Amino acid sequence: MTDPRRYTPAAARNRQPILEVLQEALPERARVLELASGSGEHAVHCATAMPGWMWQPSDPTPGALASIAAWRDQAGLANLAEPLRLDATAADTWPAGPFEAIVAINLIHISPWAVTEALMARAGERLVRGGVLCLYGPYRRGADHTAPSNAAFDADLRRRDPRWGVRDLTRVVAEAEGHGLRLQATVEMPANNLGVLFVRD
Ligand SMILES: C[S@@+](CC[C@H](N)C(=O)[O-])C[C@H]1O[C@@H](n2cnc3c(N)ncnc32)[C@H](O)[C@@H]1O
Repeated sequence: MTDPRRYTPAAARNRQPILEVLQEALPERARVLELASGSGEHAVHCATAMPGWMWQPSDPTPGALASIAAWRDQAGLANLAEPLRLDATAADTWPAGPFEAIVAINLIHISPWAVTEALMARAGERLVRGGVLCLYGPYRRGADHTAPSNAAFDADLRRRDPRWGVRDLTRVVAEAEGHGLRLQATVEMPANNLGVLFVRD
């Protein structure tokens, strides 16, 4: 039988810096919903480091769900839940919550803008007051990319799907504010990515 576990080199590089951002922002005990968990490597890394976090991974695609489940079986962690099939744009696939945190790593630039709109709307409903939404990925500020490599990445994304693309941070923040989510911090991360933290007022 083939091993369904996926390995992503980027996750191997960024999972520790992402964990450190979350450790700064979240309490010791927290219910965390992760969207777009992909391989499941971030979920295992964070749940291993923080036994007080109850981590709920999710993804809409069968291959990702199989990978997350296989990593979870191998890790045997009591605080890592079975992966949920969650499509951000389908409200009925979201768990009711509430959550102290919602995490989306490398999602909003590799999906249509409607995913960002739905993510902000649901996060505004499902986060507790004071709860944190953490996004990770590349951003631009207006027309300006934060690095030449991000401009090339943006062009590549748009070639693959014209609805994708590196997002303008100002537009993302405005969308969040429309759902009661206030920008708390932006954190410089490896490879010209940003950690973007919002708090539900
Ligand atoms: C580039 S991968 C990122 C995976 C993982 N977070 C990481 O950084 O390694 C993008 C992920 O977004 C998921 N995705 C795409 N559309 C989505 C949607 N509408 N709702 C939730 N997840 C979605 C894909 O299935 C995929 O796993």
